[in-house]
Amino acid sequence: MCGIIARVGDGDAIRKLVSGLENLEYRGYDSAGVAVQNGSGISVYKRSGQVSELKDALVGSVPNGKVGIGHTRWSTHGPPTDENAHPHTSQTDEVAVVHNGIIENYAELKATLSDAGHEFTSDTDTEVIPHLFEYYLEDADDIAEAFRKTVRDLEGSYAVAALVDDVHAIYAARQGSPLILGLDDDEYYLASDVPAFLDHTDDVVYLEDGDVVVVEPNGVTLTDLAGARIDRDVERVDWDPEEAGKGEYDHYMLKEIHTQPNALSNTIEGRIQGDEVHLESFPEGTFDDVEDVHLVACGTSYHAAMYCQQQLADAGIRAQAYRASEYVDANPGPVSGETLVVAVTQSGETADTLGALRQAKEAGAQVVTVTNVVGSTAARTADEALFIRAGPEIGVAATKTFSSQAVTLSLLAIRLAEDVPGASPPDDVATLLDDVYDLPEHVDNVLKTSDARAIAESYIDSQSYFFIGRGLNNAVAKEGALKFKEITYEHAEGFASGELKHGPLALVTPDTPVFTLFDGAGDGKTLKNAEEAQARGAPIVAVASEDHSGVDVADDHLAIPDTHPVWAGLLANVQLQLVSYHAAQLLGRPIDKPRNLAKSVTVE
Ligand code: AGP
Ligand code: GLU
Repeated sequence: MCGIIARVGDGDAIRKLVSGLENLEYRGYDSAGVAVQNGSGISVYKRSGQVSELKDALVGSVPNGKVGIGHTRWSTHGPPTDENAHPHTSQTDEVAVVHNGIIENYAELKATLSDAGHEFTSDTDTEVIPHLFEYYLEDADDIAEAFRKTVRDLEGSYAVAALVDDVHAIYAARQGSPLILGLDDDEYYLASDVPAFLDHTDDVVYLEDGDVVVVEPNGVTLTDLAGARIDRDVERVDWDPEEAGKGEYDHYMLKEIHTQPNALSNTIEGRIQGDEVHLESFPEGTFDDVEDVHLVACGTSYHAAMYCQQQLADAGIRAQAYRASEYVDANPGPVSGETLVVAVTQSGETADTLGALRQAKEAGAQVVTVTNVVGSTAARTADEALFIRAGPEIGVAATKTFSSQAVTLSLLAIRLAEDVPGASPPDDVATLLDDVYDLPEHVDNVLKTSDARAIAESYIDSQSYFFIGRGLNNAVAKEGALKFKEITYEHAEGFASGELKHGPLALVTPDTPVFTLFDGAGDGKTLKNAEEAQARGAPIVAVASEDHSGVDVADDHLAIPDTHPVWAGLLANVQLQLVSYHAAQLLGRPIDKPRNLAKSVTVE
């Protein structure tokens, strides 16, 4: 993973680089570093730890320079030490490089360069890049060609940006990791994601795999790996910098939980007419040939995919949700032109999901991605993209994007049922679509009245936390547990409620609260499962509407408004997001940056 940034323009680069890194920290926060070019060599500052530690180290010694690069790391090769932090430099410090990705042939390159007298000081794969660039610069007339030679030798994935001593330019390239060019009046940026430079410009070029770019104060030269010129369109991103900030909230996660009503309104807008769903990318008949649907995704997105799978099955469509990392290796069964593969990914950059998407495309499937990020690799690789329109999500824990994914996928399920031969939308589709308009308001109501803080407090000393639900709420139970373990570091598991008695019940004690989700479908059986746990001493927290029979049995209650079962699970999920958030806060965890994790996982 990692976030990289580079900047060329008038005035000092360093502050802009550091503030850009702060906006990229969701991508990794093991170490951070910057390097600037100032006519008397390249100055490199780097530290293990978060960007704030780099900032502290820079106090009183801010280096000058109009051209610079920066990095915030999520380690793949070598522990998060000062030495392994980026930027990495070459033998004579003539070159400095930041890199996001993995250089798969780094061992061979290192051996060759070592034979040529190069000495390495880090454990990273990245360090071969500046050494190789310097090696090619030795007899080069053309720096850009030396850089292209370097990049041509690299195998694996990279977004890379390099500085050369005494040259006022950035040399950059991408293959498999995101890299976006930002164009302002008198300065240029390159970064892994738009929020890195959104304060300065919203005019961007999404670079593609194989692109090489040289950015100088007076312009940008874009070529392919062979040096042939290419043109790419300049696009305007419609994100407001305010949207990407924390605002009045203590954490991005809390802000993102609270902005769900707005995100959901955006998700729904213009997509429903009467009892029909109209999705911009899919005119009538798009899915006439579809025989079966594979949903591929990871983590929270996988839970949204499970939510959709159930609805597709209910509509009479053969559908299966796969964990993307498994899809690539396991045999998903026959894939043909009649298979619709839906890659669900908030970031559009998750390596496992992109691997599954590419494999499906090669096998001839019709490939669609459901994503939040317009210029993402998934959006550009799939045949069509359906955007969830949730706005930027910075907290590592996915919250608003789960809600928007689940709604988008539910609409897609209805849209598919309109086309796929033999399928039909649910009998109560009119009520279902009518009720989705109330969802933003219902979420708002949950946010205003939730007792999640008090519940989190009363169970804060528990040994384990269980989440159970049936049908659609099985996916929500799993999502609730993922969120809880991810940010509290406490043990949590989500189960289909009927499964509890087939093993997990052995773990149930008075110290294991069981959050039980009721949505008005199959609740009688779920209630029995909860009572079975309660009989073994476990406290039951019912997540249900006020007048639900489960509330009388339960020890505690988190209330959700009464609505269609398809949307009830999403309201229960908001309660669980809040429980996780408050528990993590009570335990003093770094909520937006849980240990060992990063926002988008761009390695397999
Ligand atoms: C969720 O809280 C996680 N941080 C994680 O499971 C995430 O959903 C997963 O890595 C998939 O990311 P994507 O949606 O960007 O592909
Ligand atoms: N492989 C590089 C390192 O470990 C970059 C890591 C990444 O992009 O995740 O430093």
